[in-house]
Amino acid sequence: MIPSIETCFRLMDKYEMLKNIRAHSVMVAKVARVIVKGLKDAGLDISDKKTIAGSLLHDIGKTSSLNSGEDHAEIGRQICLQNNLEEIADMVGEHIRLKNYSLNGRYSEKEIVFYADKRVNHDKIVSLEERLAYLIERYGRNQEGLEDAIRMNFDLCKEVEKKLFTPLDFGPESLAPLAANEDIEPGVY
Ligand SMILES: [Fe+2]
Repeated sequence: MIPSIETCFRLMDKYEMLKNIRAHSVMVAKVARVIVKGLKDAGLDISDKKTIAGSLLHDIGKTSSLNSGEDHAEIGRQICLQNNLEEIADMVGEHIRLKNYSLNGRYSEKEIVFYADKRVNHDKIVSLEERLAYLIERYGRNQEGLEDAIRMNFDLCKEVEKKLFTPLDFGPESLAPLAANEDIEPGVY
């Protein structure tokens, strides 16, 4: 099942998503909606409902992970499966690191969530470079190998950016003004 926006907000309550993570997720969903709308306008077969649900729930495992110390993407994937949301489980599970993707293949909703999440720092839209600098500062310092891993993931994100924007008639820098016009509220679907 693909959850409605209303159901996504209910799940945020159920899994005690923190206020700041909720604000982050809503902003990621706005960015994702701008991209998915553009791709649909360009004639691509892609689901806006799936993209928005995946964006709203990508960090649904975060609160549980704070206690268990486990990977929040994997916990989130399991939460999706427990709630019969198979359609969005992979998007949530792969929002940090994409698996099974093809840069030359069909456009997929999980690429949009992966990319949109990296354009939002807290609840502000930033460039990939700004987000990269933040992540390295926060997690990569003094941890051998981690900075390289973060950089490699961002190289992939740059490739995903190129792929996503090729059919669009606006560039990555236009996301902030366009997302400002979006409203993600319960009851929209
Ligand atoms: Fe996350």
